[in-house]
Amino acid sequence: MNILVTGGAGYIGSHTVRLLEKTGSRVIVYDNLVTGHQAAVKNSVLIKGDIFDSERLTDTIKCYSISSVVHFAAYSLVGVSMAKPQDYYHNNVAGTLNLLDVMLENGVKKLVFSSTAAVYGEPEKSLITEESIKNPTNVYGRTKLIMENAMADYSRAYGLTYIALRYFNACGADAAGDIGEDHQPETHLIPLVLKACQGKTKGLSIFGEDYPTKDGTCVRDYIHVNDLGQAHVLALAALYNGHGSDVYNLGNGNGFTVREIIAAAEAVTGLTVPQTVAARRVGDPAVLVAGADKIRQDLGWQPRYTDIKQIIATAWRWHQAHPDGFAG
Ligand code: UFG
Repeated sequence: MNILVTGGAGYIGSHTVRLLEKTGSRVIVYDNLVTGHQAAVKNSVLIKGDIFDSERLTDTIKCYSISSVVHFAAYSLVGVSMAKPQDYYHNNVAGTLNLLDVMLENGVKKLVFSSTAAVYGEPEKSLITEESIKNPTNVYGRTKLIMENAMADYSRAYGLTYIALRYFNACGADAAGDIGEDHQPETHLIPLVLKACQGKTKGLSIFGEDYPTKDGTCVRDYIHVNDLGQAHVLALAALYNGHGSDVYNLGNGNGFTVREIIAAAEAVTGLTVPQTVAARRVGDPAVLVAGADKIRQDLGWQPRYTDIKQIIATAWRWHQAHPDGFAG
């Protein structure tokens, strides 16, 4: 199998690439390196290119006889998406539509798509299943939901088969310790907590302590990046085995508050997290926890990292060894 991985130099992309390589597949990473890191691609071919560049995409697909695509390339910051919706609709919607055009023109009809728990918005029930109402509270979630709907239409009309994976909160790093989370700027909770421990920031701002949760801070479902990556490997194999288009949640099914994450990080690092309470962040739902039985049952997915301290320990190893990320 020759697989094109757009955004394969990014955080989740680079971890997934490593797992796909282990299956013996030929992996071609396609990334414009705007948020991705060249140094995160260790073994596979890396093509520097944009998903809007139809000619380069076509050449890549033809040159490497690509038969499927795993599509990570997208913007993914909830807060920024509210301030800069134009960027998000352009990149995540128009960019993905362009990729789909090129795929169909070249007869590539298998796609694994990075979606998000943000498609649900504020859930009605605490455990979110794939059938839960989709009513995104932020632009990022809306762009991903638009693309899920477009892919469903393309699937019916053009024979595209896709699996959309709705990620909850990706975190942690590969045990090898040479790839990990490095966003500029960093906005995600666990890396910010660890940077605060290291004294690399003034401290952590807790965004709101008046949510209807046990300690007033938001609850999220944190899932190790390699468990996420493994789900892509299984999804792709399922598509090659004739599985039809489908959508799956990807989370551990356990929720942790912001304060619980801080406490777990303090236990793992033995350090204190300097912290202050700030206003709520626009677009943040109070609780997002995955019901992920469907992917366990259908694809046999089994997360290996279920203990939050174990997950944070893998992130801590990366942060200690790479305090300045890939640049260091
Ligand atoms: N948080 C803080 N302080 C910070 C950063 C985050 O209190 O400095 C809080 C947020 O308010 C939120 C929680 O920590 O309640 C987690 O925030 P993240 O930014 O780490 O993650 P999000 O839940 O906002 O979003 C992540 C991904 C999205 C995805 C979503 C799905 O970034 O792409 O998970 O659950 F859509």
